[in-house]
Amino acid sequence: MRDATPAPADEAVFLKDYTPVPVTVTHVDLHFRLDPRATEVSARLTCKRQGPGEFVLDGEHLEMVSLGIDGEALGANRYTLTDRTLTIHDAPDAFLLETVARISPETNKALEGLYMSNGMYCTQCEAEGFRRITWMLDRPDVMATYDVEIEAELPVLLSNGNEAGDGAGKGVARWHDPWPKPTYLFALVAGNLVATSDRFTTMEGKDVALNIWVRPGDEGRTGYAMDALKRSMAWDEKVYGRAYDLSVFNIVAVDDFNMGAMENKGLNVFNSKYVLASPETATDTDYALIEGIVAHEYFHNWTGNRITCRDWFQLCLKEGLTVFRDQQFSADMRSEAVQRIGDVLQLRARQFREDAGPLAHPVRPESFVEINNFYTATVYEKGAEVIGMLRRLVGPEGYAAGCDLYFKRHDGQACTIEDWLACFEEATGRDLSQFALWYSQAGTPRLAVEESYEDGIFRATLRQTVPDTPGQTDKAPMVIPVAWGLLDAEGTELRPTEMFELAGAEGVIEAEVPSRPVLSVLRGFSAPVILEHEQSDADRLVLLASDTDPFNRWEAGRTLAKRRLVAMIVEGSEPDAPWLDAMATLARDESADPAFRALALALPSEDDLAQTLHAGGVVPDPDAIHAAREAAAAAVARTLADDLPALRRAMRVSGPYDPNAEDAGKRALDGALLRMQTRLDGGEAARGAYRAADNMTDRMAAFACLLEAGDPEVAAAFEEDWKHDRLVMDKWFAAQVMHAAPDRAVGIATGLTRRPDFDAANPNRVRSVIGALTAGNPAGFHARDGSGYRFLADWLLKIDAMNPQTAARMSTAFDTWRRYDADRQELVAAQLARIAEERISRDLAEMIGRMRAA
Ligand code: TRP
Ligand code: ZN
Repeated sequence: MRDATPAPADEAVFLKDYTPVPVTVTHVDLHFRLDPRATEVSARLTCKRQGPGEFVLDGEHLEMVSLGIDGEALGANRYTLTDRTLTIHDAPDAFLLETVARISPETNKALEGLYMSNGMYCTQCEAEGFRRITWMLDRPDVMATYDVEIEAELPVLLSNGNEAGDGAGKGVARWHDPWPKPTYLFALVAGNLVATSDRFTTMEGKDVALNIWVRPGDEGRTGYAMDALKRSMAWDEKVYGRAYDLSVFNIVAVDDFNMGAMENKGLNVFNSKYVLASPETATDTDYALIEGIVAHEYFHNWTGNRITCRDWFQLCLKEGLTVFRDQQFSADMRSEAVQRIGDVLQLRARQFREDAGPLAHPVRPESFVEINNFYTATVYEKGAEVIGMLRRLVGPEGYAAGCDLYFKRHDGQACTIEDWLACFEEATGRDLSQFALWYSQAGTPRLAVEESYEDGIFRATLRQTVPDTPGQTDKAPMVIPVAWGLLDAEGTELRPTEMFELAGAEGVIEAEVPSRPVLSVLRGFSAPVILEHEQSDADRLVLLASDTDPFNRWEAGRTLAKRRLVAMIVEGSEPDAPWLDAMATLARDESADPAFRALALALPSEDDLAQTLHAGGVVPDPDAIHAAREAAAAAVARTLADDLPALRRAMRVSGPYDPNAEDAGKRALDGALLRMQTRLDGGEAARGAYRAADNMTDRMAAFACLLEAGDPEVAAAFEEDWKHDRLVMDKWFAAQVMHAAPDRAVGIATGLTRRPDFDAANPNRVRSVIGALTAGNPAGFHARDGSGYRFLADWLLKIDAMNPQTAARMSTAFDTWRRYDADRQELVAAQLARIAEERISRDLAEMIGRMRAA
């Protein structure tokens, strides 16, 4: 079954066209009689006219059973029904609209609206899924209270708000949500579930029941998520002064899910991958992601739910801010420096890439065809960077005052970016009109830095340019907060961090210093820009060894590595001794945090190198990039050969597994060192590590090494141990593709898709194979014969027929195609054309259209 309503790509919606609804809905009364193929949804909407115009409700994939107003059936001449809308002609001023719809959750493979996953009913309504449940004004500026009654012979029946115990019996449950909310925050879950429960008392004295609902058998894996939830609740009280506002907070784990998790009011629904964890099945990275995502969804209760978006163009109002808040939380829970480096790695890998290609768009887009296509790294991650810059510019006190005003003034409202910025202008007296350009101008600004030293005066001239992006040229200069400091040649700090605000195209930093200093610029990555700074290796080595700013220490090492790798790729040079020595010194530096050392030893990714080469006017060759990176890694391994056993011994963690940041850092460095050892011993050490592993972090690290070493047995052995566990098997699928030699990757991925346990309707499994190839094995994906491109196109077409949202998201793997040589471009173009000719969803059509156009 084709699940999307195809629509021409010219059916775009524009920010400038926003108008409020003429008739609004203030209360929603829903009754569900659940059935796999014939669920009946009875809705009674309390409607009120607030202006002139037709009353048009959204509704898709619905079968109409009945329609009435104020207790009377509606005659055929009083309404118009299409496959996307229901129009009520001459709607009165105040009335009750009554509809009964029939829907089929079991056959809903789009995973939007009401669907089934392993016999359990669940919903996903953001952004526009509610219209697949019943007719309604499916837009975020219509906020209503809800009463929900669920009828089903299932033990657990959940919806938003508090349970209304009034007369609900076996097989029926009633829920009341007193907080007005838009449709996208509605949720319903029903199934055979078990809960892990706890309690939290808010700073306002409210006693809250906390439940994490999972399938029977998974209840032993909820402890970490519960702990993360309680820490999130306490943190939001302490740092933002925000308390929870219902008597119950439910989280449900679902196996079939399009994204990470969803912040439905009082009933968060999570991809099970981001809830369930045990030492045997989850890695340190999984634990950190669970902590961050639990926090993210919880924080949405204030930034998203209590204050929501006026329209979907304002998506970053809730997402950018909530990502910023979850990053702050994780930094507080763990190491601030390690968190910042991880966030910047992520930003560059996903958002800079997006900003440099055909899918570039502003943090607040001005038009879209399908809103699901704008849940992007730009809206989320760059959106978070914009909040971080705002905080840097107005200072922590100004930021706190602005936030307090925002929460006070806009509680219960659907808002815009203008509303948000106005609070900071009023709270701090600062004019933010130029700052607002960060929301409207797409593209990653370039920040060129030129140094001079004369007569005891050091000068750094900063020049900014904002590149053209699809539909946008000739951009104005932005306000860029540039954190900087100076060191002397021995690494002693001459000037501690100061903030320079670059507001024009050009600006100059000046300092009087006794000798030529070493500049540390853009400390902490104070703005999401690309630095163009000609700095000597000697200066960078000083920063790597001694900068007081840990981010820039790491960045100096990163830049040194990148320069080596670029030279190896372009000139065929060998890695030089000074750099290898610096890497070895880092590895051995016992005074530094192991997590930091692991990050500093990691070489830039293949895609990062391709991005860098392309930005420098060089056509990247994926095979050459892969080969150079392997050669550099091998050279580092040889340099450290004699130290590896002792260094690894020092990373040994005593006691039972604990996912805390300190232990995780040791395991991360140990894993990196084991990787080096494997390059030297062909897998001998890794075989021992695999056998000895008593947790999934160590086991996966050794597994990856053995796959890279070409061990013939390890995949079968792993499968034998874990075939019963879907989340661990996702890792097994992904690792084989990611760690395959490039010339074998497409073959291995293809073989994996032919297994009976490859379920194309399950997004996690799909990402574990197809996503692992496109994102995890670039040289394999970009195979010269075009087999990777064909493989992706084949699967996009198959997945699109079931799940347009996931297909459209996966299609972004093609967005770098213009970087590559003419042969590869032609191969991709042919696949894009082939997809465009098929009957595809509007989700996928929009993405393919944008990627072909630019
Ligand atoms: N609002 C969710 C978040 O950021 C993400 C989200 C948007 C989502 N659309 C979705 C999640 C569809 C699952 C499915 O937390
Ligand atoms: Zn979010």
